[in-house]
Amino acid sequence: MTADQYPPPGDLGEILFTAAQIETRVEELGRQISEDFAGRTPLLVGVLKGSVIFVADLMRAIGGPVELDFLAVSSYGEATKSSGVVKILKDLDQDIGDRPVVLVEDIIDSGLTMRFLVEHLKAQKPSALRTCSLLVRESAQVGGLTLDYVGFRIPPAFVIGYGLDVGQRYRNLPYIATYRDG
Ligand code: IMP
Ligand code: MG
Repeated sequence: MTADQYPPPGDLGEILFTAAQIETRVEELGRQISEDFAGRTPLLVGVLKGSVIFVADLMRAIGGPVELDFLAVSSYGEATKSSGVVKILKDLDQDIGDRPVVLVEDIIDSGLTMRFLVEHLKAQKPSALRTCSLLVRESAQVGGLTLDYVGFRIPPAFVIGYGLDVGQRYRNLPYIATYRDG
């Protein structure tokens, strides 16, 4: 065990999805979106910052024209538990009226963020609105929320890597792992 091991073994739990598994799944999702939006130019709306790595790969897995925008919402901060409040910190740069939109999240935990953002975007009357999340927690309360594209379903543990952080760390891990708290 070396001093510069990253992440420190004390933080790293179990690797749930390797870089290769993620790549395969993201390509499948990209193909599906390409087919569903054939002849149209979907606008991918990534939710900052967790979806950055995912949306960058997803966009390149889409075989036709595609555009990109971002939203930022209040996050968990330094904690690993939700505050239960969603606030928009950065809104879209463009009008999405009459545009086909895919909202792209890193993970759906309680479903609060996604539910809030779907209502926020719907109010702007896009021509289509689909939801995409790399991860969905099996315990997520997705009642009333349609999840159109889902990468993987995961158990309750807090996860890091491939864009997902704990206190802003570990977004650069190429795999997704559980975080060992303490
Ligand atoms: P929700 O509103 O409870 O569905 O929470 C969704 C947001 O919480 C995601 O966009 C993430 O930013 C964050 N989040 C939830 N679970 C995790 C996790 O296991 N690791 C990192 N971030 C998470
Ligand atoms: Mg997020």
